[in-house]
Amino acid sequence: MSDTLIQSHLGENRSFDPPKQFGSAANINADRLQQAHQSADSDSQKYWAEAARDLVWHREWTQTLDWSRKPYAKWFVGGELNATESCLDRHMGTARENKTAILWEGEGGDVREYSYAQLLQEVCQAANALKSQGIAKGDRVAIYMPMVPEIVVAMLACARIGATHSVVFGGFSAESLRDRIQDAGCKMVITADGGYRKGKIVELKKAVDDALADNACPTVTSVLVYQRTAQEIPMVEGRDVWWHDTVPQQEMSCHPEYVDSEHPLFILYTSGTTGKPKGVVHSTGGYMTHALRTCNWVFDLKDEDVYWCTADAGWITGHTYVTYGPLAAGATNFMYEGAPTYPTPDRFWSMIAKHDVSIFYTAPTAIRTFMRLGDQHPQAHDMDSLRLLGTVGEPNNPEARTWYHKVIGGERCPIVDTWWQTETGGIMITPLPGVTATKPGTATRPLPGIAADVVREDGTSCDVDEGGYLVVKEPWPSMIRGVWGDEQRFVDTYWNKFDGNYYFAGDGARKDKDGYFWIMGRVDDVVNVSGHRLGTMEVESALVKHPSIAEAAVVSRPDEITGEAIVAFVTPIQGKEAGEALKNDLMAMVAKEIGAFARPAQIRFANAVPKTRSGKIMRRLLRELASSGTVTGDTTTLEDFSVIANLRDEEE
Ligand code: WT7
Repeated sequence: MSDTLIQSHLGENRSFDPPKQFGSAANINADRLQQAHQSADSDSQKYWAEAARDLVWHREWTQTLDWSRKPYAKWFVGGELNATESCLDRHMGTARENKTAILWEGEGGDVREYSYAQLLQEVCQAANALKSQGIAKGDRVAIYMPMVPEIVVAMLACARIGATHSVVFGGFSAESLRDRIQDAGCKMVITADGGYRKGKIVELKKAVDDALADNACPTVTSVLVYQRTAQEIPMVEGRDVWWHDTVPQQEMSCHPEYVDSEHPLFILYTSGTTGKPKGVVHSTGGYMTHALRTCNWVFDLKDEDVYWCTADAGWITGHTYVTYGPLAAGATNFMYEGAPTYPTPDRFWSMIAKHDVSIFYTAPTAIRTFMRLGDQHPQAHDMDSLRLLGTVGEPNNPEARTWYHKVIGGERCPIVDTWWQTETGGIMITPLPGVTATKPGTATRPLPGIAADVVREDGTSCDVDEGGYLVVKEPWPSMIRGVWGDEQRFVDTYWNKFDGNYYFAGDGARKDKDGYFWIMGRVDDVVNVSGHRLGTMEVESALVKHPSIAEAAVVSRPDEITGEAIVAFVTPIQGKEAGEALKNDLMAMVAKEIGAFARPAQIRFANAVPKTRSGKIMRRLLRELASSGTVTGDTTTLEDFSVIANLRDEEE
C-alpha cells in the first residue's frame, strides 16, 4: 500500500502517537499483572486511561469517567476515535501491514486470506458502498450473514462511517430478524443469498425478504446482498443491491468518521426475562479499550500466533473476540464458515493442524460434543501448534475438561475459563495463562479494574463460600450503555436490584477463600442452550401463538451435551388433541418464531400449568419435574393439586 493511501486513511491532524511497532509489549506476566492490580486498586481511572491509550484516538478525552448520572456511565468523555483505525489503519506502515488478518476456510474447504492492508481496502470499499446507499453516521444497519470474511468487513464498514451495526445471528428466523430490525429502526440490511451449514444452504435472503414483507420494516431502504451460494434468488428492484455490483467499484480509501467515545458502535440483541429480546448498546471508546486489552492479555497474543475463536459473529463473542479485539491486537484470525463436525467428526482438528492454529477458544458444548465422538478424531491430527485453550465456563462434567486438557491440549496447553456476558462487552473474570494458578471449575479472579463481588439480597458482601448474587460494584469501560429504546428496562434489569449502585449480572456465584469466583448459573429465567442464550418467556410466547395452546410454561433441565435443555409444559385448549402431531407443530412454531436452535428438547402436555395462588408459574417445581420426574418440598401453595398429579402420571 502506498504512503499517500495510508496518509489518506489516517487523516490529517492526528493527535495520537504513531502506531506501535510489530511485537509491541502487549503481553502480560505475573509482575505486570500484580502492578496492574495495584494501579487499578489505587486509582482505577488512571488505570483505565492507560489502557485506553493502547487505542488510536483522534482527539484525547478530557475526563476519564463521568459517573454522575448513575447508571449511565460515560468513559473517555470528549474523546474522539474511529474503531476501525485501531483495527486496521494503525497496522499500516508496520510489519503487520502484510500480515494475515483473516484466514478463512469455507465449509466446502475453500480458503481465503486477507492481509491487514487488503482488509482495510475491502472495508473502505464496503464503507463507500454503504455511503452510496445513503447510510450515514448514526444510522442503524442490520447484518444477517453467514460466517464469511464479509461479515467482519460489513461490521467494520459500518464502524468506518459511524453507522451502528446490529448483527443478527443467521440461525434466527425471519420473525426474529424482523423484530430486531423494527426495534432498532434499521435503514439497511446486509445479507447473503445463503450460507452453508452441513452441506445444505441456509436461505438467508429468503428470511430477509420474509422479514421485510408487507412493508413490515418501513425504515429499511436498501438490502445489500453478498453472493455466497449463487442459488437463484429474487432481487427486489430499487431495494436490493448485489455486493459484487457495488463494493469492488468503490474508491479504495474512505476517511474514517470520527465519533464521540460514547457513540454506539453496535447494538446486539440478547434474551432476557421477558418475551422480548433487548438491544444491548455498546460504546466505541470504552468497548474497544477492554476488547483490545482482554484479547492481548487473556489470549497472550503474540505476532506469530494463529488465533481461532469459534464463535459466530452473531454473538458477543464474535464481536469482541472474532472482530474487534483480535484485529486491534494485530492477530492472525482464523475463521470457519460451517458446522463443527462436517463433513467428518474431525473437521475442527484437521483445520487446527492444517492452519497451525495456536490459540483455540470455544464453548463447553462443543467440547462435550467432541468428547462423545471419540478420541480417534483429534488423535488423527498433529495439533502440536496449539499452545493455549479457552472456554466460556467449564464443561459441566469434569471428565470433559480433563479430555480438553489431555486430548486437545496434549497436556501442555493452559486452559482459560472466562466469565463474561453480552452486557459486559468483554471478559471480566478469568485466569491469565501462565500467570494465574487455576482450579478446574472456576473462572478464578476478576481482571484488574473489574470490581466484581458476590453479595446477599441486602447488598452486603457474602462470606467465603456463601452463595449469592454476582455483581460489579464500579463501572468499567466496556459495560452496557443501555437497552436500545427502553431506558426503564435497562434500569430495572441491571441496576434496581441493588438500588442503582451495583451492576447485577443475573448469575449466582460464590467466592472461595482464595477469592476465586465459582459461577453457579443464572438466577433469572434466562437459559443457556449450547451457548445460545434464551429467555424461557420468549419460548413461552412462541408456543402460545399456536391456536391450540392455552398456556405454556418453559423451564430448563441439565443436559450433558447442551448444558441446559428446554422442557416445555403446554396446556392445549379444551377439545384439542394432545399428540405427536401437535408436538411437531409446536416445534415448528418455535423454529418459525425464534429459530431452529430454540426448539425444546421435550414437550409435555398438562391439563393446567401449576401456579401459586398469586398466579406465578411454579418454575422450581417444573424444573424439578423436568430434571428428575419427582416433586419434593413444599407444594401447598399450588392452586390445583391435580395438576401435579397429572404431570406425575405423565412421567410414568
Ligand atoms: C451468561 C452470559 C460469555 C460470553 C458469551 C455468552 C454464562 C458466561 C461463564 C463461565 C459459567 C458462564 C452466565 C452468563 N457464563 N461465562 N465462565 N462459567 N457460566 O454471553 O450469551 O450473554 O451469556 O453465560 O450465565 O450470565 P451471553
